[in-house]
Amino acid sequence: MVIGWGGLGTVWGKPAFTVYVREHRYTKAQLDATGEFTVSIPMEGVIPSIVKICGWQSGYDIDKEPAAHLTLEAPEVIHVPGIKEYPLTLECKVLYSQKQDLEKIPEDIRAKMYPQDVDVTYCMANRDAHTAYIGEIVAAYIIR
Ligand SMILES: Cc1cc2nc3c(=O)[nH]c(=O)nc-3n(C[C@H](O)[C@H](O)[C@H](O)COP(=O)(O)O)c2cc1C
Repeated sequence: MVIGWGGLGTVWGKPAFTVYVREHRYTKAQLDATGEFTVSIPMEGVIPSIVKICGWQSGYDIDKEPAAHLTLEAPEVIHVPGIKEYPLTLECKVLYSQKQDLEKIPEDIRAKMYPQDVDVTYCMANRDAHTAYIGEIVAAYIIR
């Protein structure tokens, strides 16, 4: 899926990338099942046709690989692939995950980002909280 939020840093002395995934994303089910993820970063700008599919449609409804014309690339260390079209690749193993407590989020942000009258299937802001997944970066490279 497309992500807009994320953070690169160091946690417990390890290089890490943190992603924030809402409860009902297909991606969340995959993350929980595998404990691994890749972050695929475009190097020549985003590709609108990929965003349209991967950011607006769910893996619960379609197979995004053919739909978005993605070329999957075998990983080096983990078991989930990268994407040739977005070649700067971080392979991550989940170190820790924690669901956000909406009560602790400032009210103005909560109202804007977690509108309780919006269904969980909506791709943008909806009532679902995010789970933060801190992934240890175990490999980083550019797919050529
Ligand atoms: C620009 C953009 C940024 C997004 N960022 C996030 C994000 O950080 N976290 C999230 O849960 N969903 C985010 N989304 C929404 C998901 O990409 C979208 O709901 C996607 O269809 C989920 O697919 P899935 O159900 O196959 O996981 C973003 C969408 C777009 C277009």
